[in-house]
Amino acid sequence: MTSTVDTQWAERIRALAAEKDAVILAHNYQVPEIQDVAHHVGDSLALSRIAATVPQSTIIFCGVHFMAETAKILSYDKTIIIPDERAGCSLADTITADQLREWKAQHPGAVVVSYVNTTAAVKAETDICCTSSNAVEVVQSIPADVPVLFCPDQFLGAHVQRMTKRNNMHIWMGECHVHAGINGSELKAMVASEPDAELFVHPECGCATSAMYLASEGVVPAERTHILSTGGMLDAARTTKAKKVLVATETGMLHQLRKVNVTTVFEPVNRAAVCKYMKMITPEKLENALLHGTDVVDVPRDIADKARLSVERMIAIGTPSRVGE
Ligand code: 13P
Ligand code: SF4
Repeated sequence: MTSTVDTQWAERIRALAAEKDAVILAHNYQVPEIQDVAHHVGDSLALSRIAATVPQSTIIFCGVHFMAETAKILSYDKTIIIPDERAGCSLADTITADQLREWKAQHPGAVVVSYVNTTAAVKAETDICCTSSNAVEVVQSIPADVPVLFCPDQFLGAHVQRMTKRNNMHIWMGECHVHAGINGSELKAMVASEPDAELFVHPECGCATSAMYLASEGVVPAERTHILSTGGMLDAARTTKAKKVLVATETGMLHQLRKVNVTTVFEPVNRAAVCKYMKMITPEKLENALLHGTDVVDVPRDIADKARLSVERMIAIGTPSRVGE
C-alpha cells in the first residue's frame, strides 16, 4: 500500500518537474518509487524515442549514463540531467572508441552494429545502433553479403546470429556482469522445479544461448521460452495466460510485470541479478536533481553529430514497445 509519505514525495516530485519544465523518464530496472513517479517508463529503445520528441526543455533521465547520453545526442538543445552521473554500465565499459577503430581497421568494408549500451564516442564510430528489441531487424537490414561487426554484447550477438543465420558476423566478447551471472544451469534447475511455467529471458543473459539450446533439446519447452527485451517482456506479460512466469533479467523488471498483470505470478530466475548502477538512482537523488539541476550530461558536439546518425538509424528500425505513462 502507498504510504502518505510516499504520496507526498511523489506529489512534490511532479510539482517540481512541472515548475522546472522537466519530464522524468525511467528505465524498467529503476526502483519502484521512481518507476511510479516517472512520466514515462520503458526499455532503452522506447525511452530514446520519447527523448527525441518530448516538448519539455529538460529531461531527467533515471537510468544509466549511456542512456542519458543517448537522450543528449537526440535532443542536443535540451538540458539532460541524470540524478547520479556515476551510474555507469559494465557492458558499455567493455569497448572503447580506440578499440573499435582498431577492429574496424582489421575488417575494412564491414558494417558496425553497436548495442545502445555503449558510450557516445563508440556510437560515433558506429554505422547503426540497436537495442535488444530491434537487434535482429537491424542486422537483417544489412545486405547478406556484407560482413557485420557486432559489439559489445556476446550473448545478444549469439542470439542475433542464431536468428539471422548469418555466417559473416564478427562478435565482440563483452558482457554485462548482471546478465552473464544468470546462467544455463540455474535456468535448467528452475525449469525442472516449475514444469508448467513460461520463461521470459533477456538476450543479454548468459543463459540466452543455452535457453535456446535447452529448448531445441526439449529440456525447456520451446513454445514457452521467449527471448525478449524488457519492453517485449511487458507486451508478453499483458497477454500471457500462464499461472507463473520465470523471469531472467535484472529484478527491477518485476515491478512493471506485476503491475501490468496482477493474476500471473512473476518470479526471478536469479534474485541476485541486481544492477548496482541502476540502483544508484534513488528517490532522494531524483529530488536533488530537480532542485539543483545536477548532474548535467554533456556530449561534445562533434561526437554527438556523428553518433546521431547511428542512433537515428536505430530508431527508424523495429516496432516500438509500449511504455507505461
Ligand atoms: P533493454 O534495451 O531491454 O531496456 O535493456 C537495457 C539494458 O541495459 C539491459 O541490461
Ligand atoms: Fe549495464 Fe548490465 Fe546494468 Fe544493463 S544491467 S545497465 S547492461 S550493467
